[in-house]
Amino acid sequence: MKRAHAQWLMILTATSLLFLIVLLTVTLTGHGKYSSGASDFYYEQRQFTTLDRNFGDTAENNDGDSNRLGLPKLPRFAYLISGSKGDGPQLRRLLQALYHPRNYYLLHLDLEASDAERLELAKFVKSEALIREFRNAMVIGNADLVTAKGPTMIASTLHAIAILLKRAKDWDWFINLSASDYPLMSQDELLHIFSFLPRELNFLEHTSNIGWKENQRARPIIVDPGLYHSKKSGVFWAKERRSMPASFKLFMGSTWVLLTKSFLEFCVLGWDNLPRTLLMYYTNFLSSPEGYFHTLACNHKDYQNTTVNHNLHYIRWDSPPKANPINLTLEHYNDMVQSGAPFAGSFARDDPVLDIIDKELLKRPRGQFTPGGWCLGKLGKDPCLACGNPNAVKPTVVSKMLEKLIVKLLDSENFRPKQCK
Ligand SMILES: *[C@@H]1O[C@H](CO)[C@@H](O)[C@H](O)[C@H]1NC(C)=O
Ligand SMILES: *[C@@H]1O[C@H](CO)[C@@H](O)[C@H](O)[C@H]1NC(C)=O
Ligand SMILES: *[C@@H]1O[C@H](CO)[C@@H](O)[C@H](O)[C@H]1NC(C)=O
Repeated sequence: MKRAHAQWLMILTATSLLFLIVLLTVTLTGHGKYSSGASDFYYEQRQFTTLDRNFGDTAENNDGDSNRLGLPKLPRFAYLISGSKGDGPQLRRLLQALYHPRNYYLLHLDLEASDAERLELAKFVKSEALIREFRNAMVIGNADLVTAKGPTMIASTLHAIAILLKRAKDWDWFINLSASDYPLMSQDELLHIFSFLPRELNFLEHTSNIGWKENQRARPIIVDPGLYHSKKSGVFWAKERRSMPASFKLFMGSTWVLLTKSFLEFCVLGWDNLPRTLLMYYTNFLSSPEGYFHTLACNHKDYQNTTVNHNLHYIRWDSPPKANPINLTLEHYNDMVQSGAPFAGSFARDDPVLDIIDKELLKRPRGQFTPGGWCLGKLGKDPCLACGNPNAVKPTVVSKMLEKLIVKLLDSENFRPKQCK
């Protein structure tokens, strides 16, 4: 009975999402399909990495997979999880909470963290038999200096994206998380729902109505000494202020983004000059991560029509908003679950609500991986140590919440009318 119900749910999900796909494929056509093997310009000095070029892709052919008969091909996500001094244990927890053999994980502890911390994280990644088998996680050995609010944050993110483009060729979406973020559902739910989506959609909360930010962000000129010094310090302001740009329009929004591989190839490989122009412009811009990708996507015809105006995160701000979002606690738990968002932030380190999320939403015992259809082992021991088919995803009713959110974001009132406005 239960099984029949689950199957019925799947069919329902499949049909409503298929409808969306038809809708979208009609409207989403003709963007930059440019892709080449042109990633050889980059060489990463690897001190701690645990993987080689071959990212251990074993079961690529999931079309013939009996578990997904008639269902669309599963995507792959490439995660960047970044942290600073003292975030090592949380990065490790995030990796276990987010882990799925299909995905890629790049961990970055910035230059404030010590080499010892980085080494310890790399040792963990290396010591996990599962990760060793799939070779899909790595720690950046050559860490970057990151100044909050400075352009070093964009530089570091682009650095990570370039590594992912070079070392792992076959992912679909890039997801940027920090040590204070946490998932609200398993990767099985996410992979399942995203398998129905066109691979061109960029989830990017944005607006051109920048209000007070014109004065506070766009007019000032800042310099980030982090670009040329090896010690972290604040940014400093130039006396002059600048005019608003005339050759492109500024967009701003959330720093939490979920971006497509083709858009990021466009950013990193730069066959068009716009990504480079904007990168230089944003070098002297306060809080550039709030605008770089947004302005870039919205000022290029190939990407304007691919934006979904949402960041897929559950976030709460004070009113009036402070520089950082509220730290989420148990008080926000129900709201968080109801939102259907796959991620939430920010959380204080080791907040008890994270344990509740592990237990209730991820079904993840402490110190173990979030279980999914690929875990074959018996309960008791970590079931994911006995690894089955990575393409066997088992979505539950939780994926319905995410589906509801996505369907809403892509409906006729939200999708087109909120693009680059
Ligand atoms: C990546 O995510 C973190 C927080 O999750 C954010 O602070 C940072 O600005 C993001 N980077 C970019 C370039 O968007
Ligand atoms: C993007 O959408 C707008 C309006 O919906 C349309 O006029 C334009 O031609 C589209 N651009 C591309 C490149 O498809
Ligand atoms: C959130 O928690 C972190 C510790 O993890 C703390 O440093 C920060 O100040 C807190 N933020 C707020 C707004 O309370």
